[in-house]
Amino acid sequence: MAFTRRRPSLAVSAAALLFVVLISFLLAGPASAQGKTGQVTVFWGRHRDEGSLREACDSGLYSMVIMSFLDVYGGNGNGNYHLDLSGHPLAGMGAAIKRCQFLGVPVSISIGGFGGAYSLPTNQSALALFDHLWNTYFGGSLNDTRRPFGDAWLDGVDMFLEHGDAADRYSTLALELAKHNIRAGDGKLLHLTATAHCRFPDDRVKEALDTGIFERIHVRFYDDPDCAAGFSAAEWAKWAAAYPFTKIYVGVPASPQAAETGYKDPAALRRAVVPVAQKASNYGGVMIWDRYFDKRSNYSGSIKSWV
Ligand SMILES: *[C@@H]1O[C@H](CO)[C@@H](O)[C@H](O)[C@H]1NC(C)=O
Ligand SMILES: *[C@@H]1O[C@H](CO)[C@@H](O)[C@H](O)[C@H]1NC(C)=O
Ligand SMILES: *[C@@H]1O[C@H](CO)[C@@H](O)[C@H](O)[C@H]1NC(C)=O
Repeated sequence: MAFTRRRPSLAVSAAALLFVVLISFLLAGPASAQGKTGQVTVFWGRHRDEGSLREACDSGLYSMVIMSFLDVYGGNGNGNYHLDLSGHPLAGMGAAIKRCQFLGVPVSISIGGFGGAYSLPTNQSALALFDHLWNTYFGGSLNDTRRPFGDAWLDGVDMFLEHGDAADRYSTLALELAKHNIRAGDGKLLHLTATAHCRFPDDRVKEALDTGIFERIHVRFYDDPDCAAGFSAAEWAKWAAAYPFTKIYVGVPASPQAAETGYKDPAALRRAVVPVAQKASNYGGVMIWDRYFDKRSNYSGSIKSWV
């Protein structure tokens, strides 16, 4: 009797133990190091002679391409919108975007950049920018001739803010993008990303990021007096801790010429940066500035297998 009673109880304890082990493993998962993801995002559109978008996607080097920049909008755009792709021909771009998507490489559009003719001083200007994005690059007015890429849909929107201040209404834009639950070309949800200055927080984009709805943040560890030596473990830790549900990417220049400060060669990246970054459970990968320099240096080709 005692024997037959003990057997099931042993089996139950074993099952319970397995359950506890599994649960602790699952709970420990998110808190443990992320390790490599192989994700490399590249900015494209800042140099005419960087090669085409299609070529960038066909290289097999990138897991996302961000075209830059939509650099005129809102208040300082005086009602105008302008996409600056450094003279890349628009003909065939829709097909190139579809080709990228077919290869599994999402294509985003970045708003902001180094020109000064943009701002979102009011909710109304933010909603107008949403309408412009929706109708020009996503699902709106599919047969409107203003669409530079025809019926191709982009996959995401990136915020790259070099001008403006904390009062700008980027959170309104972010929430509106999320509200419309945009499904881009490959049927996935819109990739909402931001490319921020290295020092946490970046006031221009903080309120938007604090909505918690961003998928990714690329932290620019270059060309910034706050990170003159490039990657900063202290700033990285702050970004990773502040947005646990957002994937954080290490933004690096592709060559010494791609930035005034902050360049780390692939060996230094591997030795001193990546092991620190990959300790964060929400490490996403690496962001490369930009395709023009990467094509010449083969930086992403050298780092892809271990980032
Ligand atoms: C803008 O929209 C946000 C969120 O809906 C709201 O909290 C805020 O009061 C609005 N601001 C203005 C100036 O209307
Ligand atoms: C434009 O879109 C409307 C609505 O989807 C459709 O009925 C119409 O046939 C389209 N026109 C052209 C020229 O594609
Ligand atoms: C880039 O670097 C990788 C790794 O060293 C190498 O395998 C690849 O052939 C290089 N690509 C080019 C175009 O040089």
